[in-house]
Parts: sequence; structure tokens; C-alpha cells
Amino acid sequence: MKILILWDVFGRTGRRMVTENIGALRAKYAPDFMIANSENITGGKWPIEKHVEAMKDLGFDILTGGNHVFSNLKDSGNIFSDPRSIQIRPANYCEHQDYPIPGKGWKIVEKNGQRLLVINLMSSTFMHDSLDNPFQYIEKFLSGLTETYDAIVVDFHRETTAELVNMAHFLDGQVAVVYGTHTHVQTNDERIFPKGTGMITDLGMTGALWSSIGHTFESRLPSLLTGTRLFGPKAEQVIGEGILTGIFVEIQAGKCIHIEKIRIQE
Ligand SMILES: [Fe+2]
Repeated sequence: MKILILWDVFGRTGRRMVTENIGALRAKYAPDFMIANSENITGGKWPIEKHVEAMKDLGFDILTGGNHVFSNLKDSGNIFSDPRSIQIRPANYCEHQDYPIPGKGWKIVEKNGQRLLVINLMSSTFMHDSLDNPFQYIEKFLSGLTETYDAIVVDFHRETTAELVNMAHFLDGQVAVVYGTHTHVQTNDERIFPKGTGMITDLGMTGALWSSIGHTFESRLPSLLTGTRLFGPKAEQVIGEGILTGIFVEIQAGKCIHIEKIRIQE
């Protein structure tokens, strides 16, 4: 099984980078499945239905999310309620019977007789949302799983590097790939753990190259210079030269046998 995973598609420049490069990437890697993230896909914010559908039309099988995924539910259409939607969100929100959380945190995609399970986790450390412990959540999820699958991919949306490498060790041999997302900076530590789990601490960002993780420097600098929130930050996306990052993985018998970083810079 071959999977192409692109990360965090940020705003208009991110969408353009995907559209312009996906043909060559598909020709080079011939992936069976494609995954991307959409939490910043619409102007650096929430995914609207049109942009989720556009990614589906490009051949993406699953879109994961993160801390911005519910930023504006009123513009998200049916992407969290339609069972055919390719959009998932972090699985380990604190569910309550009286206050259901929209959407699903994991999904199985079947193609050419192969079943890929993708699950999206999120940490509470340095994040605004308070979630169930992601380590305990995935432990219970895997032990209670009744569905059949050929491979499991875990997207762990988190701020710290330590959480990701510990998650990779914790899940080694049980899942094919664990990757980190959220910092928008691709790390140089991709490897396969001893029992066959591929990992990378952060996949990076597909968006504007000359930006502060997709936003303008002008919108970010005042708060950094003064140390206060008085001056923002404001969410102004950058349109311009782009960067595209991600990974390509090959999986055999549920274990990762090859992991390769992708980085295309204009
Ligand atoms: Fe995030």
C-alpha cells in the first residue's frame, strides 16, 4: 500500500500549490491513498464545503483537522454531518450525551481491496481546547476495534515534539504511521521504529513561503515585539510564492517499509 500525505494546506496559496503539483506527485509515487489536512484551507481558517469538495475532486481520500476545525461551523456545510464526507476531526474530544461534537474522528477508506483506517488525535498541551488524554484514547480505541483493516495511520495534532516521539514509541508495531501536525514546520527526523511504525515529528505546511506559518509577518510582529495581545495577532493570509510539504509512505502487512519526506519550494 502506498500513501501520499500532504500537510497543512493553508489558504489560497496552499490550495494552488496542491492543484499545481498533485499531478506530478501522483505520477511519481502512484499512491493508492491520499491524505491531507484542511484546518487552515480556507483563508487560514475553517474548511468550507467547497474547498473540501475540491480536494476530493483532486483525488484525496481523507482530510484531517485540528484546533481550528470548528472555527466557523456555519460555513462548513455538511462536511461534518454527511457520512460520505472525507473530512474528519480530532477523535478525542470530551464527548457528552447532551452536547454532541459534530463529525467523526476516524474513518476507513476502501480501495482496490485495501482498507486504510485514518484516525485524528489532538493534544491539550499548549492548546486552547481540553481533550481526553490522547495516549489513553488511542490505547482504548485500538483494543476495542472490531473493524478489519490493512493499515492504520495516526495524525497527532500537537504542539510539543516529545508527545509525538513518545506516541510513535507507544504505538510501535500497532499502527503503520504516526505523524505530527500543527507547528507547520517540517522536521528532519523521519524514520521507522523497530517494530515497524513510521514516524515524523511534523509534516510541515503547504502554503505561503514568505509568511509566519501562513499569516503575514506584519500581523504577527507587533504582538511579538511588545509581548502583549493588544496588537493581535490578526489572521491575514499571504498570497505568493509557495511551499508544499508532506511524506510518501509504503506499507506492507500493516508495517511501514519506506518513509520519504516531500518538500517542493518555489
Ligand atoms: Fe493546528
